[in-house]
Amino acid sequence: MHAQNFPLPLLHSIISFLCFLITSSPSYGQEDKQYSTCNSSYTCGNIQNISFPFWGGDRPQECGLPQFKLTCEANQDPLIHIDGHNFRVLGINGDNQTMRIARNDLEEDICPDRFGNTSFNDPLLRYGPDFGILILFYACPFDIPSEWKNFTFSCNNTGESSHGFYPDQSFISFWGPQYGSCERNVIVPVLLTAFKRFQDQGSTKILELLKQGFDVVYNKSLVCMACERSGGLCWSETDFAEPTCLCRDRTYSYYCGFVQEQGVFHL
Ligand SMILES: *[C@@H]1O[C@H](CO)[C@@H](O)[C@H](O)[C@H]1NC(C)=O
Ligand SMILES: *[C@@H]1O[C@H](CO)[C@@H](O)[C@H](O)[C@H]1NC(C)=O
Ligand SMILES: *[C@@H]1O[C@H](CO)[C@@H](O)[C@H](O)[C@H]1NC(C)=O
Ligand SMILES: *[C@@H]1O[C@H](CO)[C@@H](O)[C@H](O)[C@H]1NC(C)=O
Ligand SMILES: *[C@@H]1O[C@H](CO)[C@@H](O)[C@H](O)[C@H]1NC(C)=O
Ligand SMILES: *[C@@H]1O[C@H](CO)[C@@H](O)[C@H](O)[C@H]1NC(C)=O
Ligand SMILES: *[C@@H]1O[C@H](CO)[C@@H](O)[C@H](O)[C@H]1NC(C)=O
Repeated sequence: MHAQNFPLPLLHSIISFLCFLITSSPSYGQEDKQYSTCNSSYTCGNIQNISFPFWGGDRPQECGLPQFKLTCEANQDPLIHIDGHNFRVLGINGDNQTMRIARNDLEEDICPDRFGNTSFNDPLLRYGPDFGILILFYACPFDIPSEWKNFTFSCNNTGESSHGFYPDQSFISFWGPQYGSCERNVIVPVLLTAFKRFQDQGSTKILELLKQGFDVVYNKSLVCMACERSGGLCWSETDFAEPTCLCRDRTYSYYCGFVQEQGVFHL
């Protein structure tokens, strides 16, 4: 008798609710495995919350892009290898996709064992706006103009002493064929504001300047930004021809909740 008095619509609702619980309960306990792997936070030195496109440490390679591997050494900021050089990562700003890096080989010694220009052939990287170029001339067989004496340094690692200096715009007036006779020149980016500050102070601490590093902008793809905005995580396959976005429950194409088969946006 009791059942007959029970309002049918309510019973229907309860059954629906039970069915809902049964069909959807697995997704509460079962987070997408790839998602929980790449949701891991990675801290190295002073750099916290390291996420896509970086990987290394707790984050396996599939959580990032191949060229953004970070190597963590004890009690130091991470290293990244770009176009033949190791760089110390001094900071990562995920909001404007900028990292500040400094050449690792010039960290302690202005005269590296292996010379090489700093250049980026990776299309994902470009210099930040506060960017200046420093040219280091090594082993120049002539006297450095007195105006540049504060910017000279000496090298000692080849057995014979050598010197070089770094110029700014006014260097143009000293530029001449003799600079071609310096054994090498090496191009290193610096923060323009830091360079000007050092110059104004008449500072001779070139290493201190180089240690401050320079900014590099790494562009995330539009597909990745759409994925992140929907609460998902980008990973190594986000940019491929069949882009995938890692979401809590499963992977989706493009962004969380996007069901491509139906061509409908469920958000
Ligand atoms: C994992 O994801 C959740 C929800 O998106 C977030 O609150 C949490 O901070 C993430 N954990 C890490 C370590 O990123
Ligand atoms: C790291 O991420 C967590 C969770 O998103 C946030 O609460 C924390 O402030 C972040 N820390 C830094 C240093 O950005
Ligand atoms: C750096 O680049 C300059 C200009 O392209 C070149 O003259 C110089 O030889 C390069 N230095 C090294 C060490 O490759
Ligand atoms: C990076 O993004 C900026 C602004 O969205 C754009 O102007 C620039 O062309 C992009 N660079 C690359 C290499 O994709
Ligand atoms: C990114 O943000 C930081 C901190 O707000 C700022 O110092 C830096 O200049 C910005 N970089 C770019 C490329 O906008
Ligand atoms: C050059 O090397 C010698 C021997 O290692 C050292 O005594 C001297 O101080 C060095 N000179 C400079 C300018 O670094
Ligand atoms: C060179 O350095 C000295 C001492 O730091 C300073 O007094 C002088 O003004 C500097 N010269 C130039 C041309 O910057």
